[in-house]
Amino acid sequence: MDRRIFLKKTIISAAGLSVTPLIHHNYSALYGQDAPSNKIKIGLIGCRNQGWSNLKTFLQYPGVECISLCDVDDEWLYQRAAEIEKIAGKKPPQLVKDWRRVIDNKDVDMVIIGTPDHWHCLPLVAACEAGKDVYVEKPLANSIEECDLMVKATRKYNRIVQVGQWQRSDPHWDEAAAYVQSGKLGQVRTVKVWAYQTSKWTLPVVPDSTPPAGVDYDMWLGPAPKRHFNQNRFHYNFRFFWDYAGGLMADWGVHLLDYAMKAMNVGLPSYVYGAGGKFGYPDDAMETPDTLMATYRYPGFNIIWDHACGIGNGLFDRREGVAFFGENGTLLLTRQGWEVIPEQAVNSRSFPYCYPCDSEKKPNTLRIDPVAIRKGGGKGLYLHAGNLLNCIKTRELPNCDIAIGAEVAKLSHMTNISCRIGTALNWDNDKGVFDNKEANRLIKANYREPWKLPKV
Ligand SMILES: NC(=O)c1ccc[n+]([C@@H]2O[C@H](COP(=O)([O-])OP(=O)(O)OC[C@H]3O[C@@H](n4cnc5c(N)ncnc54)[C@H](O)[C@@H]3O)[C@@H](O)[C@H]2O)c1
Repeated sequence: MDRRIFLKKTIISAAGLSVTPLIHHNYSALYGQDAPSNKIKIGLIGCRNQGWSNLKTFLQYPGVECISLCDVDDEWLYQRAAEIEKIAGKKPPQLVKDWRRVIDNKDVDMVIIGTPDHWHCLPLVAACEAGKDVYVEKPLANSIEECDLMVKATRKYNRIVQVGQWQRSDPHWDEAAAYVQSGKLGQVRTVKVWAYQTSKWTLPVVPDSTPPAGVDYDMWLGPAPKRHFNQNRFHYNFRFFWDYAGGLMADWGVHLLDYAMKAMNVGLPSYVYGAGGKFGYPDDAMETPDTLMATYRYPGFNIIWDHACGIGNGLFDRREGVAFFGENGTLLLTRQGWEVIPEQAVNSRSFPYCYPCDSEKKPNTLRIDPVAIRKGGGKGLYLHAGNLLNCIKTRELPNCDIAIGAEVAKLSHMTNISCRIGTALNWDNDKGVFDNKEANRLIKANYREPWKLPKV
């Protein structure tokens, strides 16, 4: 098949899109201003933690160069610039505090967005409009409305966007999903997904203070409501405040629920009930629930989400994971690998029952063969970066295309909305609305002036 037609077909079939003029350029000439080097030139927005991990990973590939760094905090901007000098021999020529300068920079081919969740949408839409490809961190955005807008912008401007759910490029996750889809587990009636985190237990209240020197705090807040600086709401801990993020649900939830949906081959549920709150630490500073359980209803099975801050004893003695409970056995999937624990017949027992009790199990009655742990390779992020670099050249959809990131981010917001208003919700996916006015208000992104939700 003609390559252009093939690529168009790949993109259209994967995205369910109408024909759009994506494949028009000679991309080997497009990337890199100076033809001999022909490098993909990267700009990073948000340098402190994951943005930096991403950039370092991209820099492991030949044919990649960082030419622009942006952070509202001088400390991280200059520290990362110095680290790049050690890696690449020179500092990036552009060091800025205003992300719009990265977008204006015509030499930047690809942007990494490593900012807090409330700062994903605007730079992504602007980057797409400026003809740049994007690696954007998960969860895709801080509201359902933004997620939809970002998908629209990506398609309108024909950009390649990879979302930072790097499990999508870590092969053992797809192997496990293929096993679930093989039917060997029998009917799967329940999928449990959990994150039990001892490392994020509580945030003691601290008074507001002045922002640290060298921080453009107004730019850090951006479209979020204006308020005094508080250390608790700043670097890393922004995760636990609604104005900027969605708590453990949106943080870990998108990584794991993505594979519950993928393996079960389903999209968003028509019903969600999230219940939880600040049960463990009612008086600490976090706004998001330290405990949350949610049910997503699908025909013939449920997906269950369960999280706890400050408790480490997750199911199967794993802090985080996804478990598919089938009639023949259970598949357990984590970042470390996957395994299958078969169901086995047991002798009928008399009181007092003893369970689990191996002596009660009938020999030779395993319903399926066990699968001993198949370890992951631990290279998910590296492969995810490589996949995007490849797709930038081929114009095929990347492993975690924006539509995938949007769907699971929306699921995490649906859960939080249900929990916040304290009621189960029905979701009409065609219309993108709940059956509840209060919940529908929380779908919206409310931007603080002068920032405006982009029009696409
Ligand atoms: N994929 C993963 O495995 C993974 C892991 C951790 C974090 N994340 C995601 O990465 C994102 C960032 O999280 P983090 O832990 O790195 O946060 P962080 O607070 O450590 O770093 C965010 C950086 O962005 C900067 N920043 C904030 N607003 C900015 C703006 N307007 N312009 C430029 N810089 C700005 C901050 O100063 C800070 O340096 C979040 O969306 C998070 O969910 C993903």
